[in-house]
Amino acid sequence: MMKKLLTISALIAATIIPTFGSAEIYQAKCFACHQANGAGIPNVFPPLAESEWVNGPAENLIRIQLRGLTGEIMVKGAKYNMAMPANAAMTDEDIASVLTYVRSNFGNKADAITADEVKALRSEVGKPMLTVKDLIDPAKAAEKKKDEEKK
Ligand code: HEC
Repeated sequence: MMKKLLTISALIAATIIPTFGSAEIYQAKCFACHQANGAGIPNVFPPLAESEWVNGPAENLIRIQLRGLTGEIMVKGAKYNMAMPANAAMTDEDIASVLTYVRSNFGNKADAITADEVKALRSEVGKPMLTVKDLIDPAKAAEKKKDEEKK
């Protein structure tokens, strides 16, 4: 009986803790700017909730964490022009975890990002901050995906 209870509580912990961990990373590393529920602050910090960037190519999101982002960017039809510092000191696992959290919360529905995907882009660290022209246009990526699905 006791053993069974322990097994059940360990199973529950294993399912709950990873999510809890990523939410904590969000609180510590993103919340101050992107706010509760990823809503952002109009004209200052862009939203993560239902952002075309968040739901677009994983590569963009990983590179933003590794290099930071500056200059003008359109998010959900509104223009932002501030700077986001890089989070390159975070581990591959933590970057993957917080990005996966953001992509599966706040009304977002995009694939998980793995630590291996982050690791593969580590050589980006130390390069100048990104601007929008360095990123894959999420609208074009969505079109391409649609075309491929038709084939
Ligand atoms: C110091 C404030 C700050 C912090 C902390 C921060 N960001 Fe940002 N973030 C910004 C700003 C400002 C931009 C837009 C940069 C620009 O104007 O070029 C941005 C842009 C983005 C974008 C692309 C645009 C969008 O809204 O979809 C993503 C994705 C993003 N941030 C994710 C994150 C995640 C995930 C974290 C935490 C790991 C984080 N940011 C932490 C300020 C911040």
